Amino acid sequence: MELEKAFFEHTGHKPLLTRALIEHVESQRVRIRNGEKTYIQLNLEGNSSEESSRWFQDMEAKGKPITIFYNHYQEMAKILDVRSDADPFFKFNRTIPIHFVVQCPDPEDPKEFDLQKMKARLEGWEQSWNKSVERQKLLESVQTAKSTVPINKIIGLGLGSGNRPYKDYTHARFSYCQHLAACDIALELQKLYGPDTEPIEIFGQDPEYTPNDKVILAHLNPPIATLEDPYGFLAIDKTTFVMSVHPNVPVRQIIADLALESNDACPAGVLWNYNPQWREEGGDQDHTDPCSSRVEKMLEGFVLAEIFEDDKEEDRNTFGKTAIWFRKL
Ligand SMILES: C[S@@+](CC[C@H](N)C(=O)[O-])C[C@H]1O[C@@H](n2cnc3c(N)ncnc32)[C@H](O)[C@@H]1O
Repeated sequence: MELEKAFFEHTGHKPLLTRALIEHVESQRVRIRNGEKTYIQLNLEGNSSEESSRWFQDMEAKGKPITIFYNHYQEMAKILDVRSDADPFFKFNRTIPIHFVVQCPDPEDPKEFDLQKMKARLEGWEQSWNKSVERQKLLESVQTAKSTVPINKIIGLGLGSGNRPYKDYTHARFSYCQHLAACDIALELQKLYGPDTEPIEIFGQDPEYTPNDKVILAHLNPPIATLEDPYGFLAIDKTTFVMSVHPNVPVRQIIADLALESNDACPAGVLWNYNPQWREEGGDQDHTDPCSSRVEKMLEGFVLAEIFEDDKEEDRNTFGKTAIWFRKL
């Protein structure tokens, strides 16, 4: 991909979505929340500017929380305009890799917030998940982990809420089943590793989790603890299995950059989107979690254990177009 190549050349082939950058952005969000008048914005070249916090503070006062917006490489390249004939102003004075946005949560359907009704609905979904072919395929694919890098925690990124309004019923089911899948992977790994290993912990990061989601997830077996953005990203290490299905955030590029920066941040396994035709399809342009050559490079060190295809009749399945990989020893 020419644009990606030019962009990596322009930025010196360095990792961009780095740990230090994510930590910096989070520290600035805290600074705004603490009422400081200004915050520090970084740009791609490592320069910084001091900006006013006022607008964000006004929005927060109206109940609109500040969330982090992560630009992916394709978007950064577009904003930077890395073409050789680009105007130097645009080439050198624009943008930062990740920045803030103010979230305006959709009005929620109050019926959904009845915990008992939600539990009844989830029970039915759990029964069909337990009998599903996808679950069977998933459990079989976990056997590959017998001879790959050991896993001791699972982090779900953007698995979504099982507590969505009725009109979004199917997606709530997918989300809930993805969390059940995380529990299945943990229990299956536990069997594989034997009784003397520490229990595998599971964490989920998704800004859409509602209070009911948190209660439900905490009662699964094993329980799923929730983390605020960006602490899920920051918790990834070489023993982590990452799960992420159609996230609205460039999970694959963030993880590939964290892994490029430090071998200790390269996960032990991933279940995430898979589209080998991404180049022909314009670099996944419309995708919020696009692939990149860095993601592919990272995966060269992994074994591909299973591919999940969309269900032709039903538009998609629980995992959409994803695949599961484990890191080679
Ligand atoms: C298209 S939905 C996919 C949900 C579910 N995985 C599925 O397959 O239906 C995208 C999800 O990404 C989540 N998301 C957005 N920003 C995120 C962030 N910074 N960290 C984790 N998840 C995020 C959204 O809240 C939403 O649940």
